[in-house]
Amino acid sequence: MKHISLASLDVGRIGLGCMGMSAFYSGAGTDDAESIRTIHRAMDLGVTLFDTAEMYGPYINEELLGKALAERRDEVVIATKFGTILHRGDGTRGLDGSAENVRIAVEGSLKRLGTDRIDLYYQHRMDPDTPIEETVGALAELVNEGKIIGYGLSEAAPDTIRRAHAVHPVTAVQTEYSLWSRDPEAEILPTLRELGIGFVPYSPLGRGFLTGAIRSVDSLDADDFRRANPRFEGDNLEANLAIVDSVQAVADEIGGTPAQVALAWILAQGDDIAPIPGTKRVARLEENVAADAIDLTDAQLDALSSVPSAAGDRYADMTPLNR
Ligand SMILES: NC(=O)c1ccc[n+]([C@@H]2O[C@H](COP(=O)([O-])OP(=O)(O)OC[C@H]3O[C@@H](n4cnc5c(N)ncnc54)[C@H](OP(=O)(O)O)[C@@H]3O)[C@@H](O)[C@H]2O)c1
Repeated sequence: MKHISLASLDVGRIGLGCMGMSAFYSGAGTDDAESIRTIHRAMDLGVTLFDTAEMYGPYINEELLGKALAERRDEVVIATKFGTILHRGDGTRGLDGSAENVRIAVEGSLKRLGTDRIDLYYQHRMDPDTPIEETVGALAELVNEGKIIGYGLSEAAPDTIRRAHAVHPVTAVQTEYSLWSRDPEAEILPTLRELGIGFVPYSPLGRGFLTGAIRSVDSLDADDFRRANPRFEGDNLEANLAIVDSVQAVADEIGGTPAQVALAWILAQGDDIAPIPGTKRVARLEENVAADAIDLTDAQLDALSSVPSAAGDRYADMTPLNR
């Protein structure tokens, strides 16, 4: 596995998103043994960056990752997230970037992950009622105390990233980025490159859609998040299948799979980018990690870069994003 740097944090350039093992997608929580095998196989294949969040489950995904990593903590980079659970209130979902909430949240995550430090601690969504300077001030204290090594922001606007970076250097920004979610290219990526901040694309497989494995929502569990996602709805889904067909065409050319092509395209966008494809299955993990060895030609990259824009918003409610 090739390595890259997110600011000063060294990571294998393909990480593993652990969310779907415990939350949001079909089959979550049904086979923890296979999820743990997937995490172990990832480590054996050179994956170092493991991504979770306190709100995945909530909590059970951090516990699962902590259990899986217990014997090999020092080999990995643990990334988790805070800010979308109201620890000062009743523990339900909501945005709280206050210093007090940060301090309560980090203690819970450290305990569930079974570690004395979190390598990359992201604010999951920006809190419009708390100045980013207060949140980052609390994070800087956690760095000084050794409880976190660095911090990141997820779905933050360029101005917020700049304000945060002025208080304490940001290690990485995590935002949705893939062949059907190109919006970070306009302002986010140039801002990160100017400031020397790493970029972690989430949902790099388009929440599974770009792999070609989901051609209708009929196969998804009744509570699967994607059933209510605009891009998976009716006419939007039908239109978006043209994107999958373009990815499949390149996959056929190289004798690979659409998932590998979608990841190889992201990896070709820069050496400051570490996507975190999610899977809870060993076979798919092996397939995805093999994208590290794929170099697409300029013609293939151009063809992929010109796929049609996705039909439908990334989320049913876009309000909490890009703030
Ligand atoms: N910061 C944020 O707000 C945010 C939001 C969403 C996600 N994330 C993070 O990003 C990670 C990845 O994103 P994601 O899980 O949403 O989407 P993704 O990586 O784009 O796609 C994951 C989906 O694709 C399926 N899949 C994976 N590899 C496959 C393959 N080779 N062939 C066919 N299907 C395949 C998975 O199913 P199986 O698991 O059944 O294999 C899963 O349903 C998450 O785990 C999470 O850590 C962060």
